Amino acid sequence: MTDIDVAVIGAGPGGYVAAIRAGQQGLKTVLIEEGEIGGVCLNIGCIPSKAFIAAGKEFAAAEHGARKGLHFASGSVNMAELVAFKDGVVKKLTGGVSGLLKAAGVEVIKGRATVTGPTSIKVGSRTITAKNIIVATGSSTIEIPGFPFDEKRVLSSTGVLRLNEVPKNLVVIGGGVIGLELACAMNNLGCKQVTVIEMMDQLLPGMDLDMAKGLQKILERRGFTIQLQARAHGAKPSQTGVDVTYEVAGKSHTIKASHCLVSVGRRPNSRGIGLTEAGVKLDERGFIPTDAQGRSSVRTIFAIGDVTHGPMLAHKASKEGIVAAECAAGSKGAAKDWVTIPGVVYTDPEIATAGLTEAQAKAQGFTVKLGKFQVGALGKAMADGETDGFYKVIGDAKTDRLLGVHIMAPHASDLISEAVVALEMAATVADLGMAVHPHPTLSEGVMEAAEALHGKAIHAINRS
Ligand code: NAI
Repeated sequence: MTDIDVAVIGAGPGGYVAAIRAGQQGLKTVLIEEGEIGGVCLNIGCIPSKAFIAAGKEFAAAEHGARKGLHFASGSVNMAELVAFKDGVVKKLTGGVSGLLKAAGVEVIKGRATVTGPTSIKVGSRTITAKNIIVATGSSTIEIPGFPFDEKRVLSSTGVLRLNEVPKNLVVIGGGVIGLELACAMNNLGCKQVTVIEMMDQLLPGMDLDMAKGLQKILERRGFTIQLQARAHGAKPSQTGVDVTYEVAGKSHTIKASHCLVSVGRRPNSRGIGLTEAGVKLDERGFIPTDAQGRSSVRTIFAIGDVTHGPMLAHKASKEGIVAAECAAGSKGAAKDWVTIPGVVYTDPEIATAGLTEAQAKAQGFTVKLGKFQVGALGKAMADGETDGFYKVIGDAKTDRLLGVHIMAPHASDLISEAVVALEMAATVADLGMAVHPHPTLSEGVMEAAEALHGKAIHAINRS
């Protein structure tokens, strides 16, 4: 086969989006996938975990309903039914993506691809020659010594999403995104004892420190035990539970838990698929460095998503896929020129961020000005009965340019997009504060935090 324009390897949210955009432009496109269409995100990551998180929120809301005069008969969680609901969502979504690929004229090839040259790939006995190759092979869970996954007691995020019972007592190794999202989901579903073992000195390393500290306080108030600067030593699983040993300040501790989730990061899937043999340079951690168009050191081979640098986020992978597909079609203008890639952590409450953290802004030499506003001061939050969290707006004191927005609030995932648009349009903090926000909503908090930066918030006592 020699007349292929684009061969995409990997059908996650990077690869399938790249393939659709390539097909939409009339390019003859193949998409090669050894697993399931949708990759980690649709099958065992973003989407299925959200089904658990949403179920947890609903269950907890029913429990808290009594505050508003709502009394339900005592509830229970049937994990088998929840897993079946989650599987149904995944099936519907992956089926939908397959339909979109077909409509865009993309041929899907099942199998493991090996790159055999700058324009050639082997899948089983088939050789494919393509003008451009887009590598979208994603990342894999990191396993650490002492914690081999048995997916019964010592779990990866995939194992958690297949549990047939709510853990009674959960230990989470790694206080990052996956660990905290799944810990909150399980806590809301009824797991009352959660311990988080984190090696760094804050939860969610890299996150704005105020947000990380704020979340820690809320979780501790809910009964979480959080051990920072802790070293995880090992897990001893048995039929009934697991003993987890860790060390803080030179002292060893053992917790008896029902389950242990290990979520210490992911590594790029870049080795063993012929890339270096084809001339593609990898960095020392296995990531593929790329230029603004997404091209690797071999011009005809693009890399997008988790396998290249930047945050391991589905929406970043998708955007890079679109850029790569447009460059493969000959676009001169398509480039990775966005100002910010927003991030969302689906904890309870959610955290969403766009732009610089306070520490990054200072490190870049800005004289920083901050505006903060509490969720609990909003009428809508009070009426909803969910008042945890706050808004933080970061501006440049000299020019008033908006530098970053960080939100810990219910629906922060939906609230952050106005900050993304404002940052992309180089708005000032005053722009954000002057824009009329509808009442009563949680979006008012963004406006109030922007106004607070200038000492003008209405529903807060402004301190200079
Ligand atoms: P992560 O990098 O977010 O967190 C891993 C945590 O484990 C870090 O805090 C790290 O300091 C800690 N750690 C590492 N080794 C350790 C050890 N031996 N003992 C104790 N702590 C240790 O990685 P995570 O949570 O596994 O997620 C992987 C990727 O998936 C992330 O890059 C994340 O961006 C992405 N993701 C994004 C989601 C979202 O956008 N909502 C949801 C889930 C994952």
